[in-house]
This record gives sequence, C-alpha cells and structure tokens, in this order.
Amino acid sequence: MEKITVSLIKADVGGFPGHSTVHSDLKEKAEEHMEKAKKDGLLVDYHVLNAGDDLELLMSHRKGVDSGEIHGLAWETFEAATEVAKELKLHGAGQDLLVDAFSGNIRGMGPGIAEMEFTERGSEPLITFMMDKTEPGAFNYPIYKIFADPFNTAGLVVDPTMHDGFVFEVWDIKAKKKVFLKCPEELYALLALIGAKSKYVIKRVFPKDTSPLPKEEPVAVISTEKLFFTAGKYVGKDDPVALVRSQSGLPALGEVIEPFALPYLVSGWMRGSHNGPIMPVPFRYSQCTRFDGPPRVIAAGFQISHGRLVGTADLFDDPAYDLARKKAGEIADYMRAHGPFEPHRLPVEEMEYTTLPNVLKKLEGRFEKTE
Ligand code: F6R
Ligand code: MG
Ligand code: MG
Repeated sequence: MEKITVSLIKADVGGFPGHSTVHSDLKEKAEEHMEKAKKDGLLVDYHVLNAGDDLELLMSHRKGVDSGEIHGLAWETFEAATEVAKELKLHGAGQDLLVDAFSGNIRGMGPGIAEMEFTERGSEPLITFMMDKTEPGAFNYPIYKIFADPFNTAGLVVDPTMHDGFVFEVWDIKAKKKVFLKCPEELYALLALIGAKSKYVIKRVFPKDTSPLPKEEPVAVISTEKLFFTAGKYVGKDDPVALVRSQSGLPALGEVIEPFALPYLVSGWMRGSHNGPIMPVPFRYSQCTRFDGPPRVIAAGFQISHGRLVGTADLFDDPAYDLARKKAGEIADYMRAHGPFEPHRLPVEEMEYTTLPNVLKKLEGRFEKTE
C-alpha cells in the first residue's frame, strides 16, 4: 500500500495592490521552484495557488510530515518570491517570513502549514481549503459540520461505515495544550471548546477504531499557526488552510463543501480587527477588496493518483454558491454599518493582538480614578 504525504504551506510574502491579492510574477517564481523540485524527484506533484494575498504551495511527496527537505523547499520558494516582491515594491514584501534563516522546520517561522501522511486508497478525493483575512478558528464551524453534524452530513446517519463518527484533536492555541474528543459521544464537550474559536482550534480529525481506515492516519488537518505568538506584535491575520479527505466511508464531496452555503461569521477582515461573513468564491474572485475583504475561502478539489494531484477543480465556481455570496454581501453591509462598534469590531481581548494597544497607550496617562 502506497503512503503519500500532502503538504499545504502558505505565506503572505507581498500583496498586490495593498493586501488584496498575489501578483502573477510571484506565482511564476514559485512554479519554477516547485517544477525543479519535481524534476529532482523531491516532489511527486504540486500546484501553486493564491487565496487573496497568500501564496499557497500544495505539494505531494514521500518524505512524511515535518520533513526538513520539504519545509526547506517551501522556505526557499517564499524567499525567492520575496525577492520578486521587493523588486516590484509589493506591499508587505516578505511579511510572513518572521525569522532570518530556516532552521529545519517551518513551523513557528511565520508560514501556515497543513500536512498529513496517509495510505492512498483506490480512489482518493482530496479537498483543499484556503482562506484569506481570517484566523485558524474559522475552520471550527465547517469541520464540525462536516464530521459531526448529521444535519450537514447525511453519511453520519445513513452510511454504516460512518455511523460511529470521528475523533477530533482540539488544540488550545494559547496554552499550547491538546485534547482528543470522540463524537458523537462527546459532542457537547467538543462544542463547549470549539465555540470559543480564538482559543480552541480543531487541528486534526481521525477515524474511529471501528472504521476500516487506519485510525492513526488523519482524514482532515488544519493550519494553526498564529503570527502574533511568533512575532510578538501584529503582522496580519493568520489566514488558515485545511486538507480534507473525502468519500467511501468519509464525508462525500458535497458534504465537505456544504457548510459554506452559510456565510458564517469569522474574525479578521480589515486590520485583523473585525467580524464579518466568510464568502466562498471561485479562484478568479480570490482577492480581498471591500474593506479588505470580506474574508474569503476557495476550495480546490483533486483526485490523488499514485501521489499525483489530479486537478484542479475550482469547487466554489458554481451557481449553487451564488446565494451564499449574495447573503455574504448583505451581511457585510449590516456588519459594516456598525463602524468601530462591537461586535463588528472584535472584543477587547482579541484586539490585544492588533495595533489598537498602541493607540490606547497614548491615553494611558490621562485616566483618573472614578468616584
Ligand atoms: C488584514 C490585512 C489588512 C491590513 C490593512 C492595513 O489581515 O492584512 O486589512 O491590516 O490593509 O495594512 P498596512 O498596515 O500594511 O497598511
Ligand atoms: Mg498581506
Ligand atoms: Mg492574507
């Protein structure tokens, strides 16, 4: 049985214009590096995409997760793209490369990463999600719906191979702790945590012991990197990515993308400081314009064949998602009307991670005791 690793590694290394999208020259430079690595045999396959101003490297290989060679390749590629961004004076050139030199593993160095190794099945559909202008917790709602909500995923009810549910690995990204919760048995405990999406983030989903799939191989993985925790200051939101395997004992393609029919509220948008609707868009609309948003998500679908990423299917390029986009526009209007007021603006605890504390510092000395 063939094992394959899929790594989706992303970084904002310069926006065009402002923080809206990625210039085609950066994507071309990334393609060059990926193509060379494929010719050299390091990669089995790759695709270069962008979600808003984030450059996305989707790679398949046989090196396993946390491979220094693969992480090093991604780092070099981002560095080369940064050179192009500097030359074009793109906005925030090199923004997410938070350290000077690569030291073996890209985690904690700025870029976001979702990767998993698994045994390739007879048919292996893979759905990759990439978001811009939001944070890792933005995946809590759809991942919960896909793998635990019978109103979303009919297979949880009618497919005997899914009937026992899944295991969720949840990270407390502030305290750096994790817990495994079995669903449906521990569904309410899961929701008690992941409803607080700025602290508790779903990292992976696994099959249950009763599943025919190997129980140690994840069926979904989400990037959880927080730039603020590495940089110690605001350097933009953490624009997350996710990989979800599908079909034959796992949620069907249509069940995997169904949660995005609702433009649910996420944190991010302008200056990483506002709540707003997430809009599912085709690749050609993957740019953040109105008020630097609204936050957007693209879905790229593949069949994996001996490690090859056969695709790309642009899954939200479909009139079935027109209504979600229209609703997102209406919700954007409603939220925007609140201007600087909560809950459009994030609650104070979350504003800690933005540029607001620097403004408040200026008022510090002027506060007097109340009676
Ligand atoms: C949000 C984001 C943008 C910027 C905003 C100000 O994640 O990237 O909304 O925060 O455009 O950017 P600067 O400070 O670069 O002018
Ligand atoms: Mg940017
Ligand atoms: Mg971004």
